[in-house]
Amino acid sequence: MPTPVSADTIGGMPVVEVENLTKSFPAADGGVVPVLRGITLQVAPGEFLAVVGPSGSGKSTLLYCMSGLEPATTGRVRVLGQDVGTASRGALAKLRRDHVGFIFQSYNLIPSLTARENVALPARLARRRVNPDDALAQVGLADRASYRPAALSGGQQQRVAIARVLAVRPDVVFADEPTGALDTESGTRVLDLLAGVARERSVVMVTHDLEAAARADRVLVLRDGAIHRELTHPHPDDVFAAVAGAS
Ligand SMILES: Nc1ncnc2c1ncn2[C@@H]1O[C@H](COP(=O)(O)OP(=O)(O)OP(=O)(O)O)[C@@H](O)[C@H]1O
Ligand SMILES: [Mg+2]
Repeated sequence: MPTPVSADTIGGMPVVEVENLTKSFPAADGGVVPVLRGITLQVAPGEFLAVVGPSGSGKSTLLYCMSGLEPATTGRVRVLGQDVGTASRGALAKLRRDHVGFIFQSYNLIPSLTARENVALPARLARRRVNPDDALAQVGLADRASYRPAALSGGQQQRVAIARVLAVRPDVVFADEPTGALDTESGTRVLDLLAGVARERSVVMVTHDLEAAARADRVLVLRDGAIHRELTHPHPDDVFAAVAGAS
């Protein structure tokens, strides 16, 4: 069983490799619903990749499969060189703890803990870690460290979630609609932070916000569970046109 290779030593190797990935869910009638229909892609170290497409096209499912949170039905997913389909539970837990970060639309902070405690919790177990106060300072929230989530705005809560990821220094960050619940100004601030994160590690972001997607290095447009278009350093107009073509 190969141990995960950190991006610090991985050189030009892809951080995530997906080969012929399919994913189906059981249907109520006893059959199956095919959701992903053969996806092949790679994510390079330091790449900022956006995934867009109509609602129900399989974006979240792809994100969860390519991060190892959901098992593939067929095909192969490697994260930092490790096959998540054949890795032991222990190896997967270690991969998630030390190498992978997640950001969700709903922030997923623990309500009873302060911002500092939320950031400190996963970092306490991680192999590499950043002081929680330093991570909060990086997202501009040094003065909110002792606030609980309910006393923070949505944008501030999402920045705490980013600080929580920064504190474990993962090699790759997966984000599902990270700006989906935010107003334009807070969303822009969160995106600025994610783009900054992508300078040092890889970021894969699912989004409905096509302006946000256009800030990525590469945009994948999904349609019916397959890659419909792939755009590199696109102009926002090209992203809008590609998504309109996928609807
Ligand atoms: N656990 C599940 N069981 C059954 N079907 C599922 C499950 N998860 C997702 N699906 C189906 O897979 C399809 C794709 O869902 P997914 O959440 O990946 O879409 P999405 O592109 O992220 O959509 P949205 O933009 O609305 O978030 C949908 O038709 C959904 O009903
Ligand atoms: Mg989704």
